[in-house]
Order: sequence, then C-alpha cells, then structure tokens
Amino acid sequence: MPVNKIPFGIPGLDEALNGGIPENNLVLISGGAGTGKSTLCLQYLVNGAKKGEKGLYISTEQNLADLSKQGEQYGWNLQELVDKNLLRVVYIDIIREDFVFKKIKDSIQDFKPNRLVIDSLNTLSDFTASTDFARQLYMQRGTMSPTISDKVLPENLTENLLKRKIMMAFLSEIKNTKTTALLTSELPEKGDYLSADGVSEFLSDGVIILNYLGVGLTQFRSIQIRKMRYSNHEKDYIGYDLKAGIEIQKDVV
Ligand SMILES: Nc1ncnc2c1ncn2[C@@H]1O[C@H](COP(=O)(O)OP(=O)(O)O)[C@@H](O)[C@H]1O
Ligand SMILES: [Mg+2]
Repeated sequence: MPVNKIPFGIPGLDEALNGGIPENNLVLISGGAGTGKSTLCLQYLVNGAKKGEKGLYISTEQNLADLSKQGEQYGWNLQELVDKNLLRVVYIDIIREDFVFKKIKDSIQDFKPNRLVIDSLNTLSDFTASTDFARQLYMQRGTMSPTISDKVLPENLTENLLKRKIMMAFLSEIKNTKTTALLTSELPEKGDYLSADGVSEFLSDGVIILNYLGVGLTQFRSIQIRKMRYSNHEKDYIGYDLKAGIEIQKDVV
C-alpha cells in the first residue's frame, strides 16, 4: 500500500522528504535554543490549516498570545485560524497543573486534529522524573500500595528507567490517536543523544535535527533528516534561513 505523505508546505523540505511525513508518524524535531523548532511546528500547522486540515498545538512554553505574536513575525494570523476551528493551542503549565498527560490526551480526543504538535517533549519528560508524580501514577494503576510506596520506589525503580517507561507509554498512546505528530526536543550544544531524554529518538518514527553553527560573523543553519521510517529521504545537510518562517536555501541543496 502506498504511504500517504503529509507535507510541511515548505518548498525544498517536502522534496527532501519525498513528499512529506508519512501519515501517522511521530517525528522528533531536535535542536538547540533558537534554531526554529517552534517556528517549524507552527508552520506545519498553519500550512495544514490552509488546506482545511485541523492542527493542535500543545505547548508547555507558550500560550496562544505568545504564539500569535511569534506567528505575526512571519505573517501568519493564528487567531483567524483558531476562529475557523482549524487551529487550537493548548497551553500546559507544567509546574502548577496535575494530570498533564490526561489533559494532552483529552485535548486530542476532543479536537480530533489531523496534525499534532507537542512543544516540548523534554519539559514533559523532565516532569515525569518527579518522584511524586511517579508514585501517583503507580498508585493509580494499583501496582503499588501507598503504605509501601516510600520503600519500593527508590529501590526498585531508578528515575531514568521510570522516565523511559512513562515516555514509552505516552508516545504509544499518541501514536494510537492516528495523528501525524511533531514533538520538539531541546538539545544542549554538545551531546551524544538526538533527544534531550535520550530515548525519544528510538521511540519516534522520524528525527529531524535543526543545527546552528556560528563561525566568526557568519552563521549557518542546516536541517538534517536523520531518520524517517516508511520513506526515502535526503541524507545530506540542507541549508535554511528564518525569514517568513523556515525557508530552504535552494542553492545549498
Ligand atoms: N521576524 C523574524 N524574522 C526572522 N527571524 C526571526 C524573526 N523572529 C524570530 N526569528 C528567529 O527565530 C528564532 C526563534 O525561533 P523558535 O522557533 O522560537 O526557536 P526554538 O523553538 O528552536 O527555540 C529567534 O531566535 C530568531 O532568530
Ligand atoms: Mg521553541
């Protein structure tokens, strides 16, 4: 069966992906601060909305007002798309809100988007490392009694293993929602992993990396498609600019 592709609507990038992201893939967008991860995600939803596809932007960092301000920089009117029910922004205050994963799943079920963005995944996975959260979760599932939880958790479950388990369960639930999703991950300047938590790159169907390199007064920005299941794709670095959103530099491709 041919794989249906969901295009970004960005000339040069869609060609590099052989048409776009295979439908129902979960794709990690990794890169340092200011490389344009949120811009790329927003652009993906705005261009989908132009074709009548519903986009849901779940953010742990920016609310609708913040994102609208960012969109304005690129000439996009987000409020208009929200009014047409083609775009919804759900802001999650990771510090103050409980049941964060439930809120995400409920908002997907409620809005039924074609395109989904979760920005950022590492804020979520950091949050799962909180022992209180873990204890709550395991007690809800009935796998741990409140009386023994203090003893059992630190001995049997390392924070890292717990984080991986929770992220695996969460990503597989997102996969089951049948959306085509971008998940952002902020990377430190130097590191061995493709995602901040070190596991999401293995669980996701695709990994797109945004690189920034400053040499003297010159800066180079490049996109690299590191992995894309169910599709052939460009393997080389692709130069881009941040102008009216992400723009691929044709002469570099
Ligand atoms: N009007 C604009 N024109 C061109 N580039 C812009 C404009 N506004 C912001 N930017 C660039 O976009 C960057 C922010 O992109 P963003 O998508 O928020 O990055 P990330 O989510 O990876 O941190 C800024 O650091 C700036 O370089
Ligand atoms: Mg961002």
